[in-house]
Amino acid sequence: MTMTASPVTSAACATPMPAAAPAASTAPTASTAAGGGAADRLALKGDLLDFTAAPDWARVDDPAVRFRPDHWLLIEQGRIVGAQPTDPGEGWQRHDHSGRLILPGFVDTHVHSPQLDVIASYGTELLDWLNTYTFPAERRYQDPAVAQEGAARFLDALLAHGTTAAVVYPTVHKGSADALFDAAAARGMRLITGKILMDRHAPDGLRDDVVQAERDCLDLIARHHQRERLAYAVTVRFAPTSTPEQLAMAGALCRADASLYMQTHVAENRSEVEWVARLFPQARSYLDVYDQVGLLHPRAVLAHGIWLDVTDRAVLARTGAQIAHCPSSNLFLGSGLFDWAAHRAAGVAVSVASDVGGGTSLSTQRTLSDGYKVQALQGQRLTAWSGLHAATRGAAEALDLAGELGHFDPGTMADVCIWDWASGSVAQHRMALVRELHERVFAWMTLSDERNLVASYVAGVPRFQRG
Ligand code: GUN
Ligand code: ZN
Repeated sequence: MTMTASPVTSAACATPMPAAAPAASTAPTASTAAGGGAADRLALKGDLLDFTAAPDWARVDDPAVRFRPDHWLLIEQGRIVGAQPTDPGEGWQRHDHSGRLILPGFVDTHVHSPQLDVIASYGTELLDWLNTYTFPAERRYQDPAVAQEGAARFLDALLAHGTTAAVVYPTVHKGSADALFDAAAARGMRLITGKILMDRHAPDGLRDDVVQAERDCLDLIARHHQRERLAYAVTVRFAPTSTPEQLAMAGALCRADASLYMQTHVAENRSEVEWVARLFPQARSYLDVYDQVGLLHPRAVLAHGIWLDVTDRAVLARTGAQIAHCPSSNLFLGSGLFDWAAHRAAGVAVSVASDVGGGTSLSTQRTLSDGYKVQALQGQRLTAWSGLHAATRGAAEALDLAGELGHFDPGTMADVCIWDWASGSVAQHRMALVRELHERVFAWMTLSDERNLVASYVAGVPRFQRG
């Protein structure tokens, strides 16, 4: 059949806002289990919010904001085909979430699956935290049963927080990457991951070597890269835990196949930066260690970047590598304040990430709320638009996935989440007082979390539903 969707109806503020009424809704009926099927034609009604482009940094009435209140989002065979204000009729499986917010699923561009075991661990900065809590937890993943159970629990937790796509660190063990790939495929999720490379400065049971690591990477790439919605990331933990030989091997993998992603950490903590300077005295900077071996490219995702300088930012812009900004983690581990505005001004793509277990929540709203505070401490302001764009369309564009996810343009996969505008009496009271759209969405971003989530769809299949 031919679908005629309404044109984009509105930009922010130009649109009348419905009251934040409780949803008079039917919940999705399909199963939440991994095997739940996609309805051939599914229609979800609510207040649709997405972005057509990057909003201006400090602008609250930006035309890139596409707010379509009380619209039906139309999904055929797992893909979005349009949106319209009118009921599409009998031929559609319809779920009326009037009075609720419907967003593209969030993209978490940097998160560690095994670190759910150590989230909220007391009293340390990065290097002590790794030794005291993180490495012992990751060592347990050498057991394939632990890795499989952990991968399933982790992905289900992402879905229960409204995150439908992620760039993930498993552990050094090949089986931990296998488990994540398989668990993501079973849920139809977009997932980018790869076994951690780490051949020094790590305890027994957590080190590989260059030859075996290369073999493992090639085997994982052959079996998982570009299978369904999966992609491989050459995963250098961080410069201190790889020998120069291993970094060179990682760079060679990237050069041999431009479709591979790369993920690592950079310039997170001052002691770490000093350590890297001692380990790599020939490098101009921490970032330069990666640049020298060819690890910086448009599919490179570098977490943190707090202690980069103006030359580093120019290198990121030149190479197209992006920063995954992790405000919750940076606050929790006392790492520092990321200068988002400077990166933006330099033309560097910035996405947002939970960095659990350094970060204290998988909730993207909590991450963005921390992100707002980190900017406020530097005299900057983060609009709801810049924050939510970075967690949806912006992340998709930076990962070269904007044809697949991150917004509601026809043709994209229906990775969609449905949210209550308010949860609890304080948020309900605040929402009743808002005067315009940015105020409302900013209050939602600041006050909401996973308790507001009603349902998560991945490629049109319900993978989480509340209750
Ligand atoms: N640097 C190297 N490994 C890690 C990690 O697991 N978490 C964080 N936050 N930083 C790192
Ligand atoms: Zn991390």
